[in-house]
Amino acid sequence: MNHHQTPHPQPASPSGNSAARGARRRRSSLSIRAATREDYPAVLALLSAAHLPHSDLTAEHLDHFLLAERDEELEGVVGLEGQGEARLLRSLAVAERAQGHGLGHQLLEAAEASARAQGANRLWLLTTTAEPFFARAGYARAERETAPKALRLLTEFTSVCPSNAACMTKLLG
Ligand SMILES: CC(C)(COP(=O)(O)OP(=O)(O)OC[C@H]1O[C@@H](n2cnc3c(N)ncnc32)[C@H](O)[C@@H]1OP(=O)(O)O)[C@@H](O)C(=O)NCCC(=O)NCCS
Repeated sequence: MNHHQTPHPQPASPSGNSAARGARRRRSSLSIRAATREDYPAVLALLSAAHLPHSDLTAEHLDHFLLAERDEELEGVVGLEGQGEARLLRSLAVAERAQGHGLGHQLLEAAEASARAQGANRLWLLTTTAEPFFARAGYARAERETAPKALRLLTEFTSVCPSNAACMTKLLG
């Protein structure tokens, strides 16, 4: 999967623009692409800076991760894990300097589209930090025990996410 997107489409004419919009227009375009195993150190650094669990993450996990880049700098990451109709969404992080401009939602939507394209119809996630963010994107709280067993055997469930993390799920449309 490899698509290029501009997060905030700008008007063709510069008239009537705000200073903020002008600043955004000068920024180069954002690209969202599939991660490769070579991205592993940069992804670990971003997850670490975002205080997200990554002790279980191997380079192989990146076969199912997407990255957002601007000027070849990593700005965001999101991952999928598991197989079949239900997948785990994990490791959604946006670099602090880029937060609050819609990139988190863009990455989430890209991961959902990728999961759908791979034949999944439901996503699950665990979060200690961003339950309201995911709730606004259509994720609902669920009992951890109701997640499919194959997902509950993944390290995010078994070890790296604390038992008080919120378990959430969304049916993909
Ligand atoms: C959660 C995260 C990915 C959101 O990225 P982002 O690019 O800032 O998100 P967006 O710009 O698309 O959306 C921002 C909106 O979400 C809200 N939001 C962001 N983080 C939030 C959080 N932790 N809890 C609740 N709301 C949050 C913002 O207030 C904003 O709301 P608004 O649209 O009403 O103004 C980012 O804050 C992050 O990397 N956090 C640290 C890692 C993390 O907690 N990841 C999720 C666990 S898997």
